[in-house]
Amino acid sequence: MAQPNGDHNAAAKPPPTPSPLRFSKFFQSNMRILVTGGAGFIGSHLVDKLMENEKNVIVADNYFTGSKDNLKKWIGHPRFELIRHDVTEPLLVEVDQIYHLACPASPIFYKYNPVKTIKTNVIGTLNMLGLAKRVGARILLTSTSEVYGDPLIHPQEESYWGNVNPIGVRSCYDEGKRVAETLMFDYHRQHGIEIRIARIFNTYGPRMNIDDGRVVSNFIAQALRINQWLDYTPLS
Ligand SMILES: NC(=O)c1ccc[n+]([C@@H]2O[C@H](COP(=O)([O-])OP(=O)(O)OC[C@H]3O[C@@H](n4cnc5c(N)ncnc54)[C@H](O)[C@@H]3O)[C@@H](O)[C@H]2O)c1
Repeated sequence: MAQPNGDHNAAAKPPPTPSPLRFSKFFQSNMRILVTGGAGFIGSHLVDKLMENEKNVIVADNYFTGSKDNLKKWIGHPRFELIRHDVTEPLLVEVDQIYHLACPASPIFYKYNPVKTIKTNVIGTLNMLGLAKRVGARILLTSTSEVYGDPLIHPQEESYWGNVNPIGVRSCYDEGKRVAETLMFDYHRQHGIEIRIARIFNTYGPRMNIDDGRVVSNFIAQALRINQWLDYTPLS
């Protein structure tokens, strides 16, 4: 293993070459995929896609902001399993891929219990990386545009390191995700784990809670309320 030499980008270990079996039809059609936070807004759409692609899917969720309702069409399906589980506790399952989404995304919910939000991001991500290392799974973390904080550069390139307040009321989320990203890269460099990070920007759509305080839903909800208040009927 390469020794620390001041070069922050120095790779300690090359990522493992996946076995050619990974690309075989048998492996692809029997692939088991863990989705943490799969009962939430984005997670449940991801589960739909994976199930439609005939994967075996395991969802682990503590239902803090998610709901079984989002997954009801898959409950009882032979390729689908649902576990009530908090990612701040270790989880031992045999899987080939991990999509790690578990974390409240709305400011109302992530500020409700900031210490828990940090634990979810840091301990939760450590637990999932520990699992990925143990079973040799590829892992994806859903990070956020909030890692750029109050950015001084627009639009933000991936190479931009951000402008983040480490002690503010949103820091539990912003800094939590930044540490989660750091852990992902350290596990990759130190243990050769195959990783992916998606920095998601504001997303909206079906199954989103209209009052959960995110910018796009706030804007739409306010516009709808104004229309109701004005008793506005659009022309057909
Ligand atoms: N929606 C967006 O615009 C957006 C933007 C940037 C990043 N993201 C990221 O995408 C992911 C999903 O976001 P979302 O919008 O679907 O949010 P969401 O709140 O709808 O879903 C989060 C899910 O994680 C679960 N969860 C929370 N804490 C948990 C814990 N400790 N253990 C197990 N499960 C837990 C919740 O019950 C819920 O089902 C999050 O990681 C979020 O940070 C979302």
